[in-house]
Amino acid sequence: MAIKFGRSIESRTRFAPAEAPAQERLDLPVRMRRNRRAEWARRLVREATLTTDDLIWPLFVMDGNKARQPVPSMPGVERLSVDQVVREAERAANLTIPCVALFPYTDPTLRDEEGSEALNPDNLVCRAIRAIKQDVPDLGILCDVALDPFTSHGHDGLLRDGVILNDETVAVLVKQALVQAQAGCDIIAPSDMMDGRVGAIRKALDAADFTDVSIMSYAAKYASAFYGPFRDAVGSAKTLTGDKRTYQMDPGNSDEALREVALDIEEGADMIMVKPGLPYLDIVARVKEAFGMPTFAYQVSGEYAMIMAAAGNGWLDGERAMMESLIAFKRAGADGVLTYFAPRVAEKLKQG
Ligand code: PBG
Repeated sequence: MAIKFGRSIESRTRFAPAEAPAQERLDLPVRMRRNRRAEWARRLVREATLTTDDLIWPLFVMDGNKARQPVPSMPGVERLSVDQVVREAERAANLTIPCVALFPYTDPTLRDEEGSEALNPDNLVCRAIRAIKQDVPDLGILCDVALDPFTSHGHDGLLRDGVILNDETVAVLVKQALVQAQAGCDIIAPSDMMDGRVGAIRKALDAADFTDVSIMSYAAKYASAFYGPFRDAVGSAKTLTGDKRTYQMDPGNSDEALREVALDIEEGADMIMVKPGLPYLDIVARVKEAFGMPTFAYQVSGEYAMIMAAAGNGWLDGERAMMESLIAFKRAGADGVLTYFAPRVAEKLKQG
């Protein structure tokens, strides 16, 4: 089946005359390079643009005070104590980044089979939300809903006899979402890939009068090797038993992504996300074309690590690779990107 793009070749040339273009009739060569010959011309004809409004900045929260801890597999990314997260939130606001995403590094002593720390209204994420909202009230906050930073086995759901339980997990995720909404989270982002969780969370949010809290569902989330560095950052890499292929999607599938997205929209998602990013741009393009929903892509930790590692070795120009990777998301039809490059991109865009 042919992939349809948001602005297809057909629609772009719909009004062109059926016969050969004028240049050819006049036996003149077509000079595609004319529009590329100077920076002003390239700017003038550019189809996709990247602005700070397109960025969501993921931050890792840890315990402590005035503490910052590098994540070795993500050069330039640190785990931050709540006070430091607030500092970075201020930085985000100054850079006109609209939204940050919070992920906790939960102390191993607080992890258990059920991920019960996820429901603690005073857990790291909730403390960080409250602190940010107090200091930078106009900054959007997105929170992941899934149990993996809290479970001793590193899975996103409840595990029994080697099986991830769907409905039992959804019941816990609903409570986790409510706890986060209560703390002041603006966007609930279920990343667990359990069936039916978006509808269950929407129902519960509405019933608790959180009608203004949005849902951005990780609708098409693939079982990916590119999450490796993230699992280092939240401390689930060492503890994860097995893999997540019984709930995250098979990388060979594309039609299935459309079904997943359709279901999440039906269940009440306000925005949808495709994850990982660059290796799945075909999915971003199909989803945007099919549904016209606010569509986001997650440039995940492994994608970030690849660019940083190559740049660190002098194998490519890191800054240019960063900008090119992000414009590619926009070209594919994404409305925004979750990216660890967010502050650096924003700084670069501000410099012009
Ligand atoms: C948790 C979650 C993951 C990521 C975001 N939320 C990891 C996973 O599903 O194993 C990955 C983000 C990244 O790699 O940057 N469910």
